[in-house]
Amino acid sequence: MIHFIGGGQMAEAIIRAVLANKTARKEEITVADISEQRNTYLTKNYQVSANVEQSAALKQADIIVIGVRPQDDLASVGTLICEHSRKEAVVVSIVAGVTIEKLTNFIGEDRAIARVIPNTLTDTGLGYSGVSLNKYAREEQVDRFLSGFGKVMYVEERLIDIFTGFGVAGPNYVYYFIESFADAGVLAGLPRQQSWEIALENVQGAVEMLRQTGKHPRQLLDINNSAGGVGINALHELNNSDFAAGLQRSVLKAVKRTTELGQE
Ligand SMILES: NC(=O)c1ccc[n+]([C@@H]2O[C@H](COP(=O)([O-])OP(=O)(O)OC[C@H]3O[C@@H](n4cnc5c(N)ncnc54)[C@H](OP(=O)(O)O)[C@@H]3O)[C@@H](O)[C@H]2O)c1
Repeated sequence: MIHFIGGGQMAEAIIRAVLANKTARKEEITVADISEQRNTYLTKNYQVSANVEQSAALKQADIIVIGVRPQDDLASVGTLICEHSRKEAVVVSIVAGVTIEKLTNFIGEDRAIARVIPNTLTDTGLGYSGVSLNKYAREEQVDRFLSGFGKVMYVEERLIDIFTGFGVAGPNYVYYFIESFADAGVLAGLPRQQSWEIALENVQGAVEMLRQTGKHPRQLLDINNSAGGVGINALHELNNSDFAAGLQRSVLKAVKRTTELGQE
C-alpha cells in the first residue's frame, strides 16, 4: 500500500502518472489531506481511498509519501508516522529543501527514508527525479513506485540542490529555448504556426539524432557546417552572443536559489 500524507498538486500529478502507467492500482493508494474538499476531489477523480484516517492508513502502508509543503507542520507529520506506521515502511519525502537529517529528527532513527525531488514531466514518463536514500533505505523499496512518474536517478544528498536547479528546472530552460527559437522564425518572416511546428520538430529530432548516432553535438555541427556556409555563419553570431555563458549562469543561479530556499 502507498499512503500520501497531503494530497496537493504534486501528489495528484504522481497519483495520475502511477495509475496511468499501471505502476500501482487505485486500491493500493490511500491519501489523507487536511482538506476534506481535496480528499473528495481525489476520490472522485482517481477512485483512490482519500477519505481515510491517517493512523489506519499508516498502519497498512509500505510506502509513505510526505506531500505537504515545507512550511507545513512537519513535526506533527513525523509524530504521526512514528506512532502509527510499521518500522519496515519506507518514508518518501517530496518536500523541497528538507534534508534527510531534518526528516530523521521528525520521524526518528532507524527508519528507511528516501528524499525525492520529483520531476515535473510526470505525465510523459520522461525526465529524471532525483533520489537520495539514507542508510536504511534500499533502491528496491522505492524503484518501482518512483519509476511510475518518470525516470529515477540516485544521487548523493550533497548533489540534490544541483540536481534541482539543473535537472528538475531543466524543462524550463528548454521551454524558453523553444519559445525564443520559434520567435526567430517569426522574426525572419515565417508564420507563427509554421515556426512553432519547425521548432518542436527540430528539438525532438536533434535529441533523437544525438541518441541514435551516439555522436557529440560538435561532431554533428561539423557535418552540418560547410565552408563559408549558412551554419558556420549562424554559429559565429551565436558565439558572439552570451548564449552559453548566459545559460550556465542561469543554472548556477537556480542552484544557488534552491540552497537559499532550503535554508529559510
Ligand atoms: N509543485 C511542484 O512542481 C513541486 C515540485 C517538486 C517538489 N514539490 C514539493 O512537493 C510538496 C507539495 O507541493 P505541492 O505543489 O503539491 O503543494 P500543495 O498543492 O499546497 O499540496 C500540499 C497539500 O498538503 C496539505 N497539507 C498540509 N499540511 C498537511 C498535513 N499535516 N496533513 C495532511 N495534509 C496536509 C495541504 O492542505 P492545505 O492547502 O489545506 O494546507 C495541501 O493540500 C512541497 O513540499 C514541494 O516542495 C513540488
